[in-house]
Amino acid sequence: MENWRISKHPILPIEERETIEFTWQGKTLQAYAGETIAAALFANGIRIFGYHPKDGSPQGIFCANGQCAQCTVIADGLPVKSCMTLVHPGLTAGPLRGLPVLPEEKPDSGFAPVQTIQTECLIIGGGPAGLSAAIELGQRGIRTLVIDDKHRLGGKLVLQTHRFFGSINACYAGTRGIDIATRLADDAARYEQVQTWVNTTAVAVFSDKKVGVIKDGEYILIEPDVLLVAAGAREKNLTFKGNTLPGVYGAGAFQTLVNRDLVKPSERLFIVGGGNVGLIAGYHALQAGIEVVGLVEALPECGGYKVHKDKLVRMGVPIYTSHTVVSANGIDSVESVTIARVDDKWQPIPGTEKSFDCDTLLIAVGLDSIDEFTKKAKEFNLPVFAAGDSDEVAEASAAIFSGKIRGLEIVQYLGKGKVEIPPDWFRTSAILKSKPGQMTDETVPEDSGDVFPVLHCSQEIPCNPCTSVCSQGAIYIDPEDIRKVPDYIAQQLGKECIACEKCINVCPGLAITLVDMRGAVNGSVFVTIAYEFDRGSIQKGDVVTVTDTTGTVLGNVEVARVRLGKATDRTVLVRLIVPREIAMCVAGIQVQPKEVGEPMEQWVERLEDDTIVCRCERVTIEEIKEVIRSGVHDMNAIKAITRAGMGSCGGKTCSSLIKRAFRELGVPMSEVTENTQRPLFVEIPMGILAGEKAVKHE
Ligand code: FES
Repeated sequence: MENWRISKHPILPIEERETIEFTWQGKTLQAYAGETIAAALFANGIRIFGYHPKDGSPQGIFCANGQCAQCTVIADGLPVKSCMTLVHPGLTAGPLRGLPVLPEEKPDSGFAPVQTIQTECLIIGGGPAGLSAAIELGQRGIRTLVIDDKHRLGGKLVLQTHRFFGSINACYAGTRGIDIATRLADDAARYEQVQTWVNTTAVAVFSDKKVGVIKDGEYILIEPDVLLVAAGAREKNLTFKGNTLPGVYGAGAFQTLVNRDLVKPSERLFIVGGGNVGLIAGYHALQAGIEVVGLVEALPECGGYKVHKDKLVRMGVPIYTSHTVVSANGIDSVESVTIARVDDKWQPIPGTEKSFDCDTLLIAVGLDSIDEFTKKAKEFNLPVFAAGDSDEVAEASAAIFSGKIRGLEIVQYLGKGKVEIPPDWFRTSAILKSKPGQMTDETVPEDSGDVFPVLHCSQEIPCNPCTSVCSQGAIYIDPEDIRKVPDYIAQQLGKECIACEKCINVCPGLAITLVDMRGAVNGSVFVTIAYEFDRGSIQKGDVVTVTDTTGTVLGNVEVARVRLGKATDRTVLVRLIVPREIAMCVAGIQVQPKEVGEPMEQWVERLEDDTIVCRCERVTIEEIKEVIRSGVHDMNAIKAITRAGMGSCGGKTCSSLIKRAFRELGVPMSEVTENTQRPLFVEIPMGILAGEKAVKHE
């Protein structure tokens, strides 16, 4: 592949962008103005960003979110995180080799006093929680400053091409995440008292109750009456051989590259983790034209929504439950992955290994709240609230409600007028946060009429847009608890489906089909399904392979009609001519042939034991465990002995793995002393801290 750009996408617009030039290792490359160095490198097929000073191992990206520092490159003579630094015309960049050298002393560019700004509420994070809180605060005239380290507001919403779960009234269910981001940002902008700063990173909370931030390269102190931390979460890592090879990275990083940067970073990928993040990442990969070779989940069942899992298996992605990743294999980057079945102690069972040819391995094994700002603020008695994933990791719909509630709690705290938090907000919030519940058998109502929806939605999850759009009121979910499984009740109401297809279109799980017996010929009927792939890839008269919810192939059928319009909002409604006997079971169209997921003939063993815990200092799991076995239970001491946690990320990526090592060795967390958190939480050049004027690139 010569150009690693996404040139067409079923959901995301591909806009004309200004092209600029930069150099990488002396070679002139093209980039788009406004994109990060990491995105520009991926777009040029470059995945190795540097070589670690300790052992020369190749480094790529991991988080694409400024959290890990693995993507460090040398740009214009300085080490920078390439995932957070924008490319500019004439940029001279190259890989980091060894330790960066101090730049030449430059002429005094001038210093300015660091300015301090007062505000009533400072919100760290302009995602669903932060923006929802800002809207509540803005409505009540509270002076609010929202800061976000990205160039666009919306947080993780800007990566979500799929429609959201929940309910339409409470949290925009049925609307795509990218569109919710725009709506929330527009709503917040309506309030004069709400100010938003993008490209602004919070770096520390200090004992004088000020928060240090860097805005476009300038260091500023904010003095808020109240702090709201809505900074989201960071991805957890996993220990296995080859876990830092370029090509092993977080599912969120992948979504950033694909859905925000419109870069195609992979041709064949494998996923570890069957929660919603991993399942959705797989779907987004398919939408971007990337082959998804498989997904492993250590538990006997995926933890994400069944409808997300069903989408993947229907499309032809194999899912291996009760399996784990054994190694990522390759010399300089991922060339294959080896997995194995796990026993009841989660250990790989020898003899069950399988390897798959792939260039990328996504880690989607959960998220850790970004809570260091909250903890420091509490330590220094700065009034602080936390919302969204920074408070509790859950779906973005839950983050919206969490933000709304915290917004009003802050109004109450500030004593600005009398506000009541509607009691049902707490209930809605709890429902939206709930994990997937009971599964029931799919049932198709008998005597459903000539035309009727089939609801392939058999797990309790908080979602009900299908009930809101049905003009006949014929799809029912208990309004008191939208987690219940939907029922089609037209018969009981004495009504009939009018085949408007709105329920098929709005369902975030793509779990509704419409069976139409009218006009049946030769034993075949019509089945309409939702399809969120390239419209041009499916035409009337085509023959497609259809599957049931488990991914079992039911046969090849003809496409009778393809509908795409303003009302369907980028979802293609495909009407198929289907043999009557399988009509109720048809749930999707296979988009990926079975051969894509075939394992290699022989499994690949990675001989090198390079299971890394601390990426910054390249400390292995064995080194950590040896220290723990010697009786050390203080993470500060582990840091002093091994350097784990001493690197540029400040322990953000290794801390949870070290805690896991304690658990694996049977040491209860009550006996473990955690790392002392010290400001700064983010690396910044000393000059900027001192008020040095930033160099601006046009
Ligand atoms: S990949 Fe850039 S900081 Fe983690």
